[in-house]
Amino acid sequence: MLLCVNLPSISAQEVTSKEQRLNSEAKAADLIINPSTTLKDKPDPNGLVFGTVFTDNMLFIEWSLTSGWEAPHIKPLENLSLHPAVSAFHYAVELFEGMKAYRGVDGKIRLFRPRLNMDRMLRSAVRATLPGFDKEELLECIRKLVEVEKEWVPYSTSASLYIRPTLIGTEPSLGVKKPSKALLYVILSPVGPYFSSGTFNPISLWADPKYVRAWKGGTGDCKLGGNYGSSIYAQREAMELGCQQVLWLYGEEHQITEVGTMNLFLYWRNEDGEEELATPPLDGIILPGVTRQSILDLARKWEEFKVSERYITMSDLKAALKENRVKEMFGAGTACNLHIPTMENGPQIATRFLNQLSDIQYGREDSEWTVVVS
Ligand SMILES: Cc1ncc(COP(=O)(O)O)c(C=O)c1O
Repeated sequence: MLLCVNLPSISAQEVTSKEQRLNSEAKAADLIINPSTTLKDKPDPNGLVFGTVFTDNMLFIEWSLTSGWEAPHIKPLENLSLHPAVSAFHYAVELFEGMKAYRGVDGKIRLFRPRLNMDRMLRSAVRATLPGFDKEELLECIRKLVEVEKEWVPYSTSASLYIRPTLIGTEPSLGVKKPSKALLYVILSPVGPYFSSGTFNPISLWADPKYVRAWKGGTGDCKLGGNYGSSIYAQREAMELGCQQVLWLYGEEHQITEVGTMNLFLYWRNEDGEEELATPPLDGIILPGVTRQSILDLARKWEEFKVSERYITMSDLKAALKENRVKEMFGAGTACNLHIPTMENGPQIATRFLNQLSDIQYGREDSEWTVVVS
């Protein structure tokens, strides 16, 4: 049976901006701050396992179609009480972000390019049919939360405080539809240095086209929970086969897209003999990483080699490896910064990016990319 219904067209953006106007009451100025009176001991950042320790407080903002956004709260971290039918559980109507606060050498706490996270979060909300929000107001609420929790930002220039904004559909209904209730919350977790040795370790990658992370018309360019839950199976298989990460391929040509949950960079002598830093273009199947954007911005500023957002296939890579044209290949992301799967010529470029990014994040270099928390 073919069912065809003509509806007046209204874009997701239009719906969201309408909601935003209606719900303009979600203001940082209305923030209610009731922090925890019992404080947990702060852990040694060197012994931390990623995302397992949480701070004392959380940001909590409820939304409903009828009343819009409620006043934001900073309150003690606690379990959520949700109806078992909520769409976050059944249909993964859920999104998240990942960003960090750093304690600088000057004692100031900084966020790194947080507006890029807010932009991406709003795009994810639109795609997930979750409510739109005022990006600057949310950023200010997050800034306040980090300020309240400032003692949790590790006193270390290799550790940081991971910030996890989350937005979930909370309507108690099994209907597959845009939720009429939602909850936005932000939790914080101190994280240690990704590389315990402080240097890059080469890793082995598993590339098998039988699993696909994202596809054209899908949601791979948004940070929706469903993208990640469904990737664990392939990651587990990679580990069973003795590899540490999945190299995600796409299409008949086996385009190289991402590595694990990181954007991928290849620094090589390309087919035309040019020195080039290449990463796949944002064509809908690539997550627009903040680290990716920052590496592209730095490399373009340096003007030392060609910088391209271009397709790279497995056969391009194999030919380049055979002809000794691959200098470096690395993954880039906030949670784990940069990771080197191959170091044929030493990780010089990756180390340079890592050093320059951490100089900015830890306040050794002034930059308009940071927002000072306190
Ligand atoms: C699939 C994927 N690619 C890349 C990244 C890196 O993005 P960012 O640099 O913003 O952390 C992430 C992490 O958010 C990711 O989940």
